[in-house]
Amino acid sequence: MIAGKRILLIIGGGIAAFKAVDLVRLLKAGGASVVPVLTRAGAQFVTPLTLAALAGHKVHQDLFDLTEEAEMGHIQLSRAADLVVVVPATADLMAKMAGGHADDLASTLLMATDKPVMIAPAMNVRMWEHPATQRNLATLQADGVRVIGPVDGSMACGEYGPGRMVEPAEILAAIDAALTEGPLAGRRVLVTSGPTHEPIDPVRYIANRSSGAQGTALAAALRDLGAQVVFVTGPATVPPPTGVQVIKVETARQMLDAVQAALPVDAAVMAAAVADWRVANAASSKMKKDGTGRAPGLEFAENPDILATVSKHPTARPGLVVGFAAETDTVVDHATAKRLRKGCDWIVANDVRPDTGIMGGSSNAVTIISGQGAESWPMMAKDEVARRLAARIAGALQG
Ligand code: C5P
Repeated sequence: MIAGKRILLIIGGGIAAFKAVDLVRLLKAGGASVVPVLTRAGAQFVTPLTLAALAGHKVHQDLFDLTEEAEMGHIQLSRAADLVVVVPATADLMAKMAGGHADDLASTLLMATDKPVMIAPAMNVRMWEHPATQRNLATLQADGVRVIGPVDGSMACGEYGPGRMVEPAEILAAIDAALTEGPLAGRRVLVTSGPTHEPIDPVRYIANRSSGAQGTALAAALRDLGAQVVFVTGPATVPPPTGVQVIKVETARQMLDAVQAALPVDAAVMAAAVADWRVANAASSKMKKDGTGRAPGLEFAENPDILATVSKHPTARPGLVVGFAAETDTVVDHATAKRLRKGCDWIVANDVRPDTGIMGGSSNAVTIISGQGAESWPMMAKDEVARRLAARIAGALQG
């Protein structure tokens, strides 16, 4: 709920700053109060007058404004908010935050605050993908900063790719989620979801029937209990939930990289249907029929086991690791053996024989296998499975 909440909104200097104006409008419409802080670069893109008029509040710009210091002080300004939001977070602002700089009002507020911080990065594709930005991102995440976006899209600079800021409505949903007081408030939870695609050549791939519905429902349920959710998803057919950090991947190996980059987390819920094998001899250009009638021989290599890697992580094993097991026969026996083999705490097992309609469907009948034994739940909507599982995860993290 954003009504009655106070948002300290730091507007960085990027073309996406114009979207911050819309965000102010949405926050105000939802009953929040907004205190805008405009960086020097931000003021090149939006005017203080526009922001002040929409926010109904003075815009803060200068660290050394003495009247301001006498009236309020930057320390107090940084603490009076319920949440500090940076929109857009430029590469420069992220670097300052990660490095602990405090040489202007925005960076000083970010250093001085004792409140949760959320950033919506926006920058050119190359700048986003630059190792320095990725290092800063990892540092900020480890510091507990909530990151929303960026997403793939065309950018003002004419390039296409990751770096485009998420839309204001999406930022609003993330703010709403961040302000939710729930049993998972302050907890960071990783959820993997969807299938993986393993390329055969540049146009063909091997996939499975996972829709990503159960993982998506789980991420939403964990978010609703106040968790900061990092959602690593393969190419799913259902859209990712709002208000979570979405990281899109295609292959199992990319998923492993994204998962490792997301650590440390309090809990990891691995609902993705990861391909066990990839094509070892994937072609770099499209395979052609050679006229002889001979089919190409595909060779397979085993993919890394992401769940086992996280469960057996030497330094950053999450406090709770939950795996899934999609089986077609002797479900509980297989899943019980899998729990031990992979080293996770719980396995959520389900029967995915085609006649159950579970894979790709909207209902699920699961058995939760833990060190205490197996507990079967009746068939219910995947949303309900997600809510119950999220509540149980919250209980386990509290206990
Ligand atoms: O071995 P199996 O695929 O049945 O195990 C299912 C569980 O293991 C799921 O939680 C899935 O996300 C995870 N898994 C994984 N990496 C793999 C294969 C499965 O993390 N390569």
